[in-house]
Amino acid sequence: MKESIQPELIPFDRMREQVEKNLTNYISQSSECLELPKITYEKGVSTISFPLPYFNETTIFTIISIIKAHIENVRIHSFDDGYYAFQMMNRNLFNTEGLLDNLKVEIFGLSSGSRTEITKKGNLSQEEINFSIEIFKELYEVEQDNPETSLRRLGASVYHDHGSLDWNYIAGYEDVKRKIRESIIMPLQNPDIYDSIARLTRRSFETNRPNAILFDGPPGVGKTTIARIIAGEVKIPLVYVPVESIMSKWYGQSSQNLSAIFDNTEFLGSAILFLDEIDSLAGSRNSSMFEATRRILSVLLRRLDGIDSVSNTITIGATNRRGDLDPALISRFDQTISFPLPDAKERAAIFGGYARHIDENDLLSFGEQTAGISGRSIKDICEYTERRWARKIIIQKAEAVAPPAEYYRYSINSWMGDNFNDAGEKTAETQREGNQ
Ligand SMILES: Nc1ncnc2c1ncn2[C@@H]1O[C@H](COP(=O)(O)OP(=O)(O)OP(=O)(O)O)[C@@H](O)[C@H]1O
Ligand SMILES: [Mg+2]
Repeated sequence: MKESIQPELIPFDRMREQVEKNLTNYISQSSECLELPKITYEKGVSTISFPLPYFNETTIFTIISIIKAHIENVRIHSFDDGYYAFQMMNRNLFNTEGLLDNLKVEIFGLSSGSRTEITKKGNLSQEEINFSIEIFKELYEVEQDNPETSLRRLGASVYHDHGSLDWNYIAGYEDVKRKIRESIIMPLQNPDIYDSIARLTRRSFETNRPNAILFDGPPGVGKTTIARIIAGEVKIPLVYVPVESIMSKWYGQSSQNLSAIFDNTEFLGSAILFLDEIDSLAGSRNSSMFEATRRILSVLLRRLDGIDSVSNTITIGATNRRGDLDPALISRFDQTISFPLPDAKERAAIFGGYARHIDENDLLSFGEQTAGISGRSIKDICEYTERRWARKIIIQKAEAVAPPAEYYRYSINSWMGDNFNDAGEKTAETQREGNQ
């Protein structure tokens, strides 16, 4: 059989330069004092070696999974306690000629300190270089044990700086704001007071602070925005978890990953864990996602079950369809805070936030005309108006001033057009564009 074309090999000096440059950069971002791997060329053999940050079963599995991602055929040469070796095969698996000259990864798990060695007779290919760099990064990333890095890798976003968002940004919703102040902000800001009371009242101490709160309400009423405002006010990080995307991204692996998200959030000390769109768990019950859903649900049930955590962390779940959620899941939440659609006065106030130059009477009439729409739709209407206005200004080469009330009224009328319904905002969008 004809051997397939061999990949281009990179001269040793260039390989070393590449690895060192790449990893110097990487190491400089780490909080730890890491050393570059030792890279040598002796007796015709290239070697990249470095000590392992820690050594256990996971180390081996991490290495195997990286090998699998980069190298087609590999043989386990040794799998003894303390010595593991993986030997790359020839392209043609049955051709064993020169096999031992191929790339080899060895892991020495010695009590005096573990190390890994990547060796190959002659020079490495680009793919083999990338693979060596990745092994180093992967193993040291785990060791850095930075919960935020891990959370990001798990698909969560961690927000610290909540920018200019504050309570004034949300117009109306006084009742919702009051409930949030009482059941989320006060306990997060004064945990000691709550705990002292529990010590006085309980036969055996358990926390009386809420563990989990459910935000329920239609799309676009400010649930996600308010979670960010809370985190900003309490000055703790917000760990944002889009449950839906986590489920579809890691089908099969998602329950372990969700569990890891909870663990890493606890490492942050004090945080808000925001599980957005938890109805995606309810929605996929009878589809092929069922098994993954069931497992992820069971992780949630366990983690929300008020395991008397002393940590100052609160979980907020957000849903558009509380009624569809598993009753066991609902029962894990200490309280549900309902976000209704805004009423006429609130709509006027929301308009006021996005069109502050419009006078009170016009705002009130905008509020009257927009029954049934969310804060998000109002924001969209205002943005749409500003874009239309900007086009006009550009075309007329006029000076930039704020759009007049009629322009808003026109947008509102087309938005509220005949076909408007709860789910029909996108249709309305197309219509409006068409009206131009
Ligand atoms: N009361 C309000 N005042 C000002 N802006 C609002 C208000 N309600 C919603 N908005 C704006 O609407 C947008 C959408 O809000 P947000 O994403 O928080 O909604 P949500 O309830 O999380 O929606 P979904 O269920 O679709 O995730 C945000 O830009 C937010 O600022
Ligand atoms: Mg949201």
